[in-house]
Parts: sequence; C-alpha cells; structure tokens
Amino acid sequence: LLGLGHVGSAIAALALARPAALERTVSITCALVRDPGARVRQPGVPLTTNPRDVFEGGPEVIVEVIGGLDPARSLVLEALDRRIPVVTANKSLLARHGNELLTAARQAGVPLRYEASVIAGVPFLDTLARRPLASSLSSLSGILNGTSNYILSEMERGSDYRAALAEAQRRGFAEPDPSKDVEGIDALEKLTILLRQFTASDVSPDAIEVTGITRVSREDLVHARELGGVIKPVVHASWSGHEIDAFAGPAWVPRTHPLASLSGPTNGMRLCDGAGTALCFTGPGAGPRVTAITVLDDVIEATRGGWAPSPATGRARVSAPATRWLVRARGREPRPDVTSFGDRLASCGVGIERVSVGDACGRGTAWLLTHPCSRDRVEAAASTLAAAAGCDAFVLRTLEP
Ligand code: HSE
Repeated sequence: LLGLGHVGSAIAALALARPAALERTVSITCALVRDPGARVRQPGVPLTTNPRDVFEGGPEVIVEVIGGLDPARSLVLEALDRRIPVVTANKSLLARHGNELLTAARQAGVPLRYEASVIAGVPFLDTLARRPLASSLSSLSGILNGTSNYILSEMERGSDYRAALAEAQRRGFAEPDPSKDVEGIDALEKLTILLRQFTASDVSPDAIEVTGITRVSREDLVHARELGGVIKPVVHASWSGHEIDAFAGPAWVPRTHPLASLSGPTNGMRLCDGAGTALCFTGPGAGPRVTAITVLDDVIEATRGGWAPSPATGRARVSAPATRWLVRARGREPRPDVTSFGDRLASCGVGIERVSVGDACGRGTAWLLTHPCSRDRVEAAASTLAAAAGCDAFVLRTLEP
C-alpha cells in the first residue's frame, strides 16, 4: 500500500475486517508513509518510509493512494517496471500521466487498474469496457464530483455555500485541497479518464473547458427552477473518432434529464450510442469507505490477470460545444429592463427562449435562457449587454437532453 491517508487507512481497515463480500482475503504486506510517527497506526500493517520495503516485500499487487503527481508517478512506474500489477484511485495522476502509465503496464505485461477513480462506489468501467457496446458509444453526460453536487443541493435547501463545503469536508467527500472540487478540476480529471477509455484518445485535461460552482448563487438556483430545470455540476462530451466536444462545469439541466434528480453527494453518468440507446449508472462517488471497497475489488481483479485498460491509440482534438446558455443579467435598478436586455443580446446574434425575473442582492435581475450558440458568442453578447445597460452579466451552460 503506497499511502496511508483517509483512503489508505480505510483500505487497510477493510482488508483487516475481511468482509464476506470479497472473494479473496487481502493482506497488506507493508504501507509506505511519509512520517510513521504522524499517522494513526493500523494494527497489523507494517509501516515504512522506504519504497523498496514495499516493492521487495513480495506483494502480488501495489495499491497507490498517495494522491498527487509526485512521487506517485515514479512509484507506479517502478512497480510496473518490476512487473507488479498496480491499482490506483489517483485521478490527477491518471488524467495527466495515464497514457504513459498504461503504456508502461502494457510493455510490462501487467495490469494497471483504476476502477475507483471515477464514481468510486459504482464499478462500471471494467463492466462496460468488456462489452462490444462500449465501442459504439458516442456521448456521455455525468455528475462526477460529489462535493459540488452536495454544495449546490444544500444551497437549494437554503444552506450557505461555506457551511455546505465545511460539511462536505467533515464527511470526507472533499479533496484535501477543496478548490479542486469547487473549481471543477476533480470532475475534469475524471472526464479525461473516461474519454481515454471510451474514445481511445489521449486527452489533455488542459484542452477541455472547465468552470467551477463558486459563482453560482442561491437566486440562480431558484430561477433555474422557474425556467424548468436545475443547476448541476456536470461533465459532457460527444465524439466521433478522436474529434471530441466537451466541457466540465455547472450547467442548467432540464428537469426531465436523468441527472436532474441526483442530489447530495450522489454521482451519475449517462452514456449514449448513436442509435438512441442510453445507459445510466448512479451511486456514491466519494468517501473513504466506498472507495476502499472498490479498490479492494480491483486488487482481486488484478490478481486474476483478465481484462485490463489499454493505452490510447491516437490524440484527441477537443472543442467546446455550442449549447443553450443561462445568462444572469443584474441591473442597477430594482426592476430589470427585460426587453432591453433581450434586444441587446439579440443584436449580438443571441436569441432568447425564456426569461425569469427577480432580484439578486436587491437589484433587478433577469435570467435569460438563450438559443444554442458558442461560448465566444454568448460572452461577447454578455459583455456588450454589461457595457450598454450597466449590468453585470454571468453565463452558465445548459446540458442538452
Ligand atoms: N472529492 C471527490 C468528490 C472525491 O467530491 O467527488 C471522489 O473522487
């Protein structure tokens, strides 16, 4: 075991408890820690600060749960070089160096498995990858960050942003640096992993548009409902070969969409093929215990020597899609001049479909749902509106059905 933080400790505790659900007993030969004195010791788990003790202790599988890029990357490469199968739940590592690591695993002839890295409590990657259906998929939409979904759900119930984030941290959903959750980076990294798997493309997370939930207000959530939807922290991608349209960020989702009803820390994903077949997976995506169960399940799979994820076969070309947008325009007056807001957006080529009116911070505000257009176009129109009407304008994508 490389790392004995929240997830590593949960793995050690679960392995020691020998749950009946696991078909094999898993014993931890050794756990690599940075500072043995600073950690809560797990009874029966020998600790070391020297990676060599882990590699040379004869493990059948190495589990990497250190997190971050270094030294995780070099330790995983060393394990693979020693022909030891690796299981990891490290999203950043897989998003940034996944293809290099999968190539090393392929060359070594051992598996690198990462089922717990995306929707940790729902083992769907392996199941799907073994099916011919996986190669006919052409789009996915998902809620992949439990912390952001929990925060927006709590804000809808009247809680404030900071209190909801503190509770997500207390319950163990949030990343050690929670800005990765609320700025959309965690979801972006998971989307990158999924795209590599489903499109066989090497995708750089830096090529994908990402926004966070920090600018979404309680008023936005209320008026999103008036417009027949709900604001959710989503990822979306559609593809043909290595050409991919994708984004990660909060979006207005029509009430009828399967993701609209997922609240709290629940994660979910909808995968579609070109012929109208849709598959949905929902379940817990975060927390040490659910992650530990899936990691141990993956450890057992790794010892079987069956299917294992493959490296990408080509490089992705990524664009941001044209979608409808929710524009929040907050004026100076107590009542918003909706007609003038709509006219100004229309004069920039952005048509309006529906409007909800209210106030935000005591200022007349309109929430305008647009026709589909590119981000460049809606942002240019929002800037024109802000300059001409003296309002501040904020734009949010929508997730199309
Ligand atoms: N911070 C992540 C989340 C943990 O909130 O979903 C699981 O990857």
